[in-house]
This record gives sequence, C-alpha cells and structure tokens, in this order.
Amino acid sequence: MSLQTLMEKLKPEVTAWRRDFHENPELGYDVHRTADIVAAKLREFGADEVVTGIGRTGVVGIIKGKDNSADRVIGLRADMDALPIEEKTNKPYASKIAGKMHACGHDGHTAMLLGAAKHLCMTRKFNGTAVVIFQPAEEGGAGAKAMIEDGLIERFNLQEVYGMHNMPGIPLGHFAMRHGPMMAAADQFEINIEGKGGHAAKPDKCIDTVLVAAQIINMLQSVISRNVDPLHSAVLSITCMSAGDAFNVIPQTAKLIGTVRTLNEAVRSDVEAQMKRVITSTAQAFGATAIFRYSRGYPVTVNHPVQTEFAAAAARAVVGDDKVDLTIDPMMGAEDFAYMLQKCPGSYVFIGNGDTAFCHHPAFDFSDDAIPAGMGFWVKLIEMGMPLI
Ligand code: NI
Repeated sequence: MSLQTLMEKLKPEVTAWRRDFHENPELGYDVHRTADIVAAKLREFGADEVVTGIGRTGVVGIIKGKDNSADRVIGLRADMDALPIEEKTNKPYASKIAGKMHACGHDGHTAMLLGAAKHLCMTRKFNGTAVVIFQPAEEGGAGAKAMIEDGLIERFNLQEVYGMHNMPGIPLGHFAMRHGPMMAAADQFEINIEGKGGHAAKPDKCIDTVLVAAQIINMLQSVISRNVDPLHSAVLSITCMSAGDAFNVIPQTAKLIGTVRTLNEAVRSDVEAQMKRVITSTAQAFGATAIFRYSRGYPVTVNHPVQTEFAAAAARAVVGDDKVDLTIDPMMGAEDFAYMLQKCPGSYVFIGNGDTAFCHHPAFDFSDDAIPAGMGFWVKLIEMGMPLI
C-alpha cells in the first residue's frame, strides 16, 4: 500500500484527535490536558521512550528504527498551545472554553505529528532514531527556548530538526519553504516621554509631550526609509500611544509602544541603535526627555540550506514536484522554532491550509484535509533521511 493510501486511512482517527484538541484549547505553558493525551498516545503506540515535563509541559517521544547503530537522530517538532481569542467558526467542534481558541492550527500540528508517530511506531522502516517533539507556549512564551534550556538538543542527541506550520492562502496539499530567513525577529519597544505639564492656554510655560510624541512618530519613519539598506527588509509599527486625559491640560508625560520586525541580526541591531538616536535627539530638541526600552523577542527563523533542500525533496516525494514551492518570500511574523534552528541544523516549512481566514482570526480553522499530506511529510523525512540499507 502506498504511503498516500496509508495516510488517507489514518486521516479519520487523526481528525478526531484534532477536533478534540480544538474543543479543548489551552494557553501558553498551561497545556496539561493536551500534553497528557500526547504522552498517553505515544505510549499506546509503543514509542521506545516518552519523556514529559521538558520545558515545563513539553513532551518528547523516541521512536527507534530497525537499526540504531548508525547513531542518526532526526527531530520533528509540533506546537500545542492555543490563543486567547473568542472563537467565531460555528463549527460543531468549536472551542468549549470561553475566550480560548486554536486560532493558529496548533491543534492540527499536534494531531499530524501524533499520526506520523503512530505510523512510524508501527512500521519502523528506517535506521536511526526519530524524536517527536511537542512544545508548549509557541505564542509568545518561547516554549521552544524553554525546552532547549532543559537540554532538548543534547539529551536526545538531535542532529537535525524540522518544524511545520499550516499557512492559509497556500493551496491544500501544497508545501512552501525557502532557504535562509523564513520568519522575522519580533521585538517590542516602549518610549516614555517626559515634558512639563500645565495649562493648555499657556503652552509657552509647558513642554508639550503630545507634540514631542507626534514628532518622534514622524521621525521614526525615517529609520526604515533612510537608514535601512533598500535591499533589506524591516518593519517599524507604533501600535499604541497614550497621553493626557483632559481637554485643557497639556500632559506631563506621553507613552508610545510598538514593534520592530527584521530578517537579519545586523539590521535588527542597526534599527535599534538608529531609533535610540532619533528618539533621544528629537525629545532633546523640544527640551523633553525620552526613555527608550527595546526588548528583543523571537530571533529570525533561518532555514539551513542542506536541510531545506532535503525537506523540499521529502515534500515532493509526498505531493509531487509541482506542489512544492522553494522560492516563497519570507514572512514578517515570528516563530519560536527560530531558537531550535540556532542550535541545530534544520528547516521550517509551510503546509497549505487552503482558502481560509488567516491565523489568529476568530474564524480561522485548521483544514483537516491537510492532515494526510502533513503526516506523509513527517514520515518521509524520517524514512528518506535515515533509510534502511
Ligand atoms: Ni502558529
């Protein structure tokens, strides 16, 4: 029986798991129910070892192939956490928990990797060791980093690691990836401006923080347009501004909050330095002060070339040459799989979710029809990467 047929046969069972996860979303590191189910299923499938509590609630399953003397180890990673969003899909399996929803498809990611683990446990048509990694807290909590700090890479001797995320807008049954930067670094900043408050009718006796904030907003636009190499990419968005609360008072303070997205570390550091210069000197020009706090979030997700070619080859073996695009543009969203790729060669790929609402939207839903291709991709990575001799 072909791998395609086997995956199709497994689809109804995996779809049921996916919908159960969807009905019971959990946030951040608080993914106890999901992690318990994952661990129980891995044991039921006959995984050689199941380790829980890595990175607080992460789960790792070890599946040994026919011959392990080759000492080859490949890791496959899925994320388990949901988002604090009220679901608006009207699906029969919609979230049963108010204010929480699998709006990024991590329910599908977890189910697909579990399905692949079941198949690999049953067939073991590879030499070496497959490590299935289920991480908590991808959505801002850096669960991947927590698992690495708990020894994920060394403890399981990971030599390569792969991640997969669904992507609305890419057709079902298609894969897409690229060499090098795939997802952006996501940083946050906060600017606290202090001037001199007073009567709105006596601006000459005040230092108007509203005017200073407005100038800083304008001046910051020059950082991307005038300081970043036009052949590089960066985004600087100010997403929150606050100052004052009365029509007749010039406020003493003003605050701006925003985000910076970049695709390489040099641009990232440069943007931060240029922002500091612009903010400090603009405030100074008005006699105000500005305290600039820049906090680095997830780093750039950078795909390794050899492993990306290999991931594309595995995807082609599953869905055909014409359904794998190795030339997509990077996205300015961020992904904590970046931390794994900093420590271990590997690649992060997109699997098509078809024409659905975008990730993090209340109407988003993972497409169950993506399941066979997704599971097939995981299985192929292991069988092609560590073939029987
Ligand atoms: Ni996601």
